Formats: sequence, structure tokens, C-alpha cells
Amino acid sequence: MITFGIMTLSMESEIAYFNEMASLAQSCGMEVFRFMPSKIDPHTLQVKGQKFDSKAKGWLEMELPIPAIVYDRCFYGEDEHSKQCLPIVSWLKNRKDITFLGYGLPNKLELYNAVKNTELSSYLPTSQSISDSGTVLNYLTSMKKIILKPINGAQGYGIYYVKKNDKTIHVKTEKQKKIISRIFPNEAKLVQWLQPLLKQRSYLLQPYLELSTNEQQPFDIRILLQKNEQGIWGERGRGIRIGSTGGILSNISAGGSVVTFSEWLSSLPPAKGDYIRQEVDFILSKLPAILEKEFLPLFEIGVDIGIAKNGSIWILDINSKPGRKVLFHTRPDLQETLYLAPLLYGKHLSQTEQIERKNYYEKTLSH
Ligand SMILES: Nc1ncnc2c1ncn2[C@@H]1O[C@H](COP(=O)(O)OP(=O)(O)O)[C@@H](O)[C@H]1O
Ligand SMILES: [Mg+2]
Repeated sequence: MITFGIMTLSMESEIAYFNEMASLAQSCGMEVFRFMPSKIDPHTLQVKGQKFDSKAKGWLEMELPIPAIVYDRCFYGEDEHSKQCLPIVSWLKNRKDITFLGYGLPNKLELYNAVKNTELSSYLPTSQSISDSGTVLNYLTSMKKIILKPINGAQGYGIYYVKKNDKTIHVKTEKQKKIISRIFPNEAKLVQWLQPLLKQRSYLLQPYLELSTNEQQPFDIRILLQKNEQGIWGERGRGIRIGSTGGILSNISAGGSVVTFSEWLSSLPPAKGDYIRQEVDFILSKLPAILEKEFLPLFEIGVDIGIAKNGSIWILDINSKPGRKVLFHTRPDLQETLYLAPLLYGKHLSQTEQIERKNYYEKTLSH
């Protein structure tokens, strides 16, 4: 029996997803074992975790060897436990006897720097690291409207819209599903606010793109790509995420809602709709191979694509640990496929030779 390992930072995270997966494991000839990196004993290489008992339909506490196949669903924060787990996961990724379904992607800035030299470069918003508040002021003078985002961010956390008016500066963000607006009377006051922010974490800066509907709701297209049981990339589905009127984020975690891609497309003039579909399909046909060439093997990615009011198309974000909410909403018929996918790809990996798969390792630990 193949043991399929699920690695998380908390035994409470994504429990519904893992319960469904684990219930299907036996039909694939697999058993599921959940564990946290911090529970590994480095001397015995045993780990305390929970194995799914398919008869009792529940999890049993158990100590087992580290599974040879690992589905990494660790979401790191700034907390101590995250900091403790990062080097352990790095060590695991380096071990020849353990295969990860996907090895993750680096931070947003490294991702940008790698993809900007490929044929997808024209779809990337220019991104620049911020060394100090001077960088922000210079950019603001030339661009007028910019976006600041943490290079290690996720779920829309810590994203700021900054707009320069004649004298004042307008800053907008979304926190706990609320839009927060602030006007600074001059640059000096803005700098006073910026300096501690930039000290806390690393930020990048992008031009603000008008990615809103006519009703001033920010929106984007979210696509889930996964490898199938033969290791071949394919699209599972796509949906439109729509944020609050006057807001800046379309993330579901920030309160966004979902409509189907076809419903949204039918609201556009047919020629514009066809053009957008072709462009999105082109991006998706190239992206997985580009990422796996630049970095390490992946199992799945969630891609955020923005469509600006002027019709331009932008790759906003690529997530190696994507959520499934948009697809569960737009394609409820896909649920079982999505629960089975990691198991089937894990099975494929356990049956194929892994030596070629990870021939180098660095800079892959991130979101
Ligand atoms: N340059 C930009 N211009 C306008 N809106 C943006 C820009 N970048 C991101 N957004 C909005 O913010 C959301 C979150 O940004 P993203 O880069 O995906 O970060 P996260 O990793 O936090 O999801 C996007 O889905 C989009 O709605
Ligand atoms: Mg995103």
C-alpha cells in the first residue's frame, strides 16, 4: 500500500478537503497520513501524525516513517512555528528518498524576474523591489497610481493602492473585508507612514491597473491547472472573482464573490470575448513548462489573470498552493475529480523513476 503524506502547519487546516481525499484513498490503493514538519524526529526519521482509518472514517494518532510521497500544503506566516518548519521542509525537499508532488514557487519578485525573460513577459505588470520610501515617491511622481504588495504575500493581505493627487496622497487598502482609505496631506506624512511598513516586510511595487468592472468592482480570472494521473498538465476549470465596489482586491478570502467564466464572457462583445479567451489560453499553454524550466517540478498552480478596462491582459499572480473555492462554486460536478487528483498524481509519481525530477534545489521555499 502506498502511503500518501499530507504535510501542513496545523492539524486543523483544510480538514474538509483532506477528509474527502482520505475517504477516496483506499479506492486508489493508497493510505493517507497527515503530519506537521515540526513533528519529525530527525534521528529516527519517524513522524507523529494521523492516519486515516477508512473503516472508522476518522483519523488515528500514529508514529510512522516520513512518507515517500508528500503533498505540501504548508502556508507560512510570520509566526514562530512557521519559522521553525521552513528549514525542516527545506531539508525534506532535498532528500532523495522523499518526493514532493510539487516543490513550490519562490516569492513574487523572483517569479517576476524569471518569467520576465520568457515569451510571457508582455503579460507581466512591471514589478520593482522597494528599497526605501524614496523608491515609492519616485514611482508615484511618474505613475500617479501604484500598488504595493508584500513579496511573500497571499490572499490579498497587505496590498495598498497609492494615488498621487495635486498635493495630497490617497492610500487605500482592504482589511477584514473592509475598505480603509486615508489621505496624506503631503509626501512627508506619507513617508512617516511608509517607513515602518517597509521595515516590517519586503514589498514590491507595480503600476495600478484598472482591473475593474464598469461597476468599479475589481475582478480577475482564476484558473486551476493540474497534472493528471499521467503527469500531463491540463486545465481543471476557471471562474471570475469579483471584489467589493470601490475596493482593490478580488480575492475570495477578502470577501470576493464568484461567477462562471462563460456567464462573464457572454456579457462582452463577441469579438472582445474571443480575443480574451485566446490570449488566456495562450498564457496557460505556456506557463507550466516555463515555470518547471525555471524552477522545480509542480503538481498544480492557480493563476490569477486580470483584464484591464483598455482590454490589456495581465498575469497577476501564480500560486503553487492554490485554493479550490472558485471551482467548487462554478463546477460543483468537479468535486470528486479535485479530491482524487493529488492521490492519482501521487500514485503516478510513486510508480515512475524520480532521479531526474529534482536535479537541483534552491530558492523554492515560499508560498
Ligand atoms: N497591479 C495591480 N493593479 C490593480 N490591482 C491589482 C494589481 N495587483 C493585484 N491587484 C489586485 O489585488 C489582488 C491580489 O493581488 P495578488 O498579486 O494576486 O496577491 P495575493 O498573493 O495576495 O493574492 C489581485 O487579485 C487583484 O484583484
Ligand atoms: Mg492572488
